Amino acid sequence: MATLKKGTLVQNNAGVTCRTIAFTIAKGGQLKSTSAVNIAAAILKDASIDEAKICILDIDAQANVFTSFGLDADMLPEYEDLSAAMLGYTAQDGSNVTGMAAIENTIHELYAESDKKYIHCLTANERCDLLEMTILTNLEIYPDPTTLLRDVCRELANYYTHIIIDTPPAYSLLVSNVLMIDNVEVYVPYEPETYALRSVGKTIRAFDSFATRNPSATFGGVFATKVKTQTNIHASIIGTARTFVQASKKPYLKSFIPNTIKIANSVYYEALPPLLSTKKSDQVREYFDLWEEMK
Ligand SMILES: Nc1ncnc2c1ncn2[C@@H]1O[C@H](COP(=O)(O)OP(=O)(O)OP(=O)(O)O)[C@@H](O)[C@H]1O
Ligand SMILES: [Mg+2]
Repeated sequence: MATLKKGTLVQNNAGVTCRTIAFTIAKGGQLKSTSAVNIAAAILKDASIDEAKICILDIDAQANVFTSFGLDADMLPEYEDLSAAMLGYTAQDGSNVTGMAAIENTIHELYAESDKKYIHCLTANERCDLLEMTILTNLEIYPDPTTLLRDVCRELANYYTHIIIDTPPAYSLLVSNVLMIDNVEVYVPYEPETYALRSVGKTIRAFDSFATRNPSATFGGVFATKVKTQTNIHASIIGTARTFVQASKKPYLKSFIPNTIKIANSVYYEALPPLLSTKKSDQVREYFDLWEEMK
């Protein structure tokens, strides 16, 4: 289990570029958080990658990424959460702390294998509940409310090889911010059932509506989660989803995540995602397969 510890930021060497990957769909329980954590773990365990300096950016105040490592984001001291990174804060001496100085203070270490392979996290928590309202009621201070996260990621990209973003189940200002991040790659997990298909469609439309404002964003693909391979209904809905996604000129991924309780078990019993657990890592191959397809 991780204990609360600040992450040490190490600047990237010249020529290293940072990949930014977001998991999003405005429906609960589709495996956004689980995918964010396990793809981070799959990148860390990828033997073909020498340097995996990963930052998970959890913009969901449920803070499930922290929970997956046995940590409680609501216990974070003041100015160590997403609000502080996005808006800065006023220090005790009255000075305004902004930019990288504010961001650095919010980075925590979740897991470290070596000084070249680690997972850090910058998370929202319950203090961020009013973050969007604060931004929208202070537009004179934040004239472009959709680019605050982009600015945070521009700083983070100097220190990380991968930024993995977990989003809340909403079409919100914060998710708009995600769609404005430089070179963001958007992935959409969905559980094969009718209501989720509607959400996949809406997420594609949301992405397309930002395409002219942020031409650097790419749509990585849609993939099925919690798939019950024995049921005809799932196979049928997956077929419909694939046809719909491809008709929308978006990639539909071959990889899928089967329905299993192993992930919840691992988080509950070990406070670690299963890919990072020595006992369980061989039980969840599917995230390695998904990562191979995302590479
Ligand atoms: N392969 C799996 N099969 C079935 N359930 C799973 C699987 N992996 C994770 N779960 C469970 O599914 C639930 C939802 O997963 P998760 O929290 O990742 O979804 P989410 O899309 O992030 O939800 P939210 O929108 O609320 O943030 C969790 O309780 C998780 O433990
Ligand atoms: Mg989640």
